[in-house]
Amino acid sequence: LERTLSIIKPDATRRNLTGKIAAKFEDAGLRIVASKRIQMTPAQAGVFYEVHKERPFYGELCEFMASGPVVVQVLEGEGAIAKNREVMGATNPKDAAPGTVRADFAESVGENSVHGSDAADTAAAEIAYFFSGLELVG
Ligand code: GTP
Ligand code: MG
Repeated sequence: LERTLSIIKPDATRRNLTGKIAAKFEDAGLRIVASKRIQMTPAQAGVFYEVHKERPFYGELCEFMASGPVVVQVLEGEGAIAKNREVMGATNPKDAAPGTVRADFAESVGENSVHGSDAADTAAAEIAYFFSGLELVG
């Protein structure tokens, strides 16, 4: 079974949407095999989003991700990476399909409620950034 990293972002934890978002993952057949609520420093968010460091919104993105608690989760299932991104919807909520997390909950292209890994190699690196092997219980 495949695993992917999900983050419920500060705009969503602030509005008490953690349970509603997690329910969408579970309803899609993804199992939450690890979960914790943390608050990152801007520097820790900066390391996580290093791939975006040349993009104009990098600083804003890191400040936002450190602006409140996030819930980091590992989701497991068949085709978990693609399935999670399907449940999340398009980056910009204006483009997100009805019923997706971002269509239902995201506030803007920046404050868009969730993150999900985009490939097998990034999923492995992102899971290892937040969790030790002992914390993953399938
Ligand atoms: P993630 O799952 O969070 O990686 O989203 P994604 O893969 O759909 O989008 P992408 O990797 O292209 O961008 C990463 C994150 O940067 C997005 O989820 C947004 O939070 C943020 N972002 C992307 N585009 C913009 C933008 O134009 N402005 C701002 N402020 N933030 C953006
Ligand atoms: Mg991405």
